[in-house]
Amino acid sequence: MHFERRRAEYLISTDPALLDAAAVHAFLTRSYWAAGIPLQIVRKSLENCLAFGLYHEAASGARAQAGLARVITDRATFAYLGDVYVLEEHRGKGLSKWLMQCLREHPDLQGLRRWMLLTKDAHELYRQFGFTHPARPERIMEIVVPDIYTRGTSSRTTG
Ligand SMILES: CC(C)(COP(=O)(O)OP(=O)(O)OC[C@H]1O[C@@H](n2cnc3c(N)ncnc32)[C@H](O)[C@@H]1OP(=O)(O)O)[C@@H](O)C(=O)NCCC(=O)NCCS
Repeated sequence: MHFERRRAEYLISTDPALLDAAAVHAFLTRSYWAAGIPLQIVRKSLENCLAFGLYHEAASGARAQAGLARVITDRATFAYLGDVYVLEEHRGKGLSKWLMQCLREHPDLQGLRRWMLLTKDAHELYRQFGFTHPARPERIMEIVVPDIYTRGTSSRTTG
């Protein structure tokens, strides 16, 4: 059974069959963190995570992807939260807070030793759900390739 919650005309579900990868790609490719991401990478990333889809359900019954939160996790010790968004026309209604509430409630995400995320400016959103600045940032290391989705095109033009 997939996790599912409803509120007015919105649905949050972890059912992978509901995800609209093309719609997710359309947002992510214009996001500040994944600009230029190819559709096939979005598809693969959705297949290999616990994705919380946010959907708008019209009175006609038509369902449309309105947002997302992706949890990358072993479902035992650790979870990384990424690709959180709500489409512009659905913002300001508490939907990202509802997404956060749902993923904090999910039975497979209980008792984890650590959650992590990166954000440019939404710290106050995540702070409301228990996230804090790392107590020991000197212990955190990373490998980052910020131009991974764009360097192929630029090297082709130069080479
Ligand atoms: C951030 C985002 C998901 C918020 O979605 P939303 O559904 O409009 O947000 P909500 O209505 O649930 O409210 C968000 C809460 O977080 C707060 N907040 C903190 N930083 C915020 C930010 N950068 N943008 C929006 N809200 C922010 C709001 O003030 C609000 O809290 P309040 O109700 O206590 O005042 C949405 O603006 C978005 O998709 N932005 C573009 C993508 C993005 O930046 N994602 C986060 C990447 S880490």
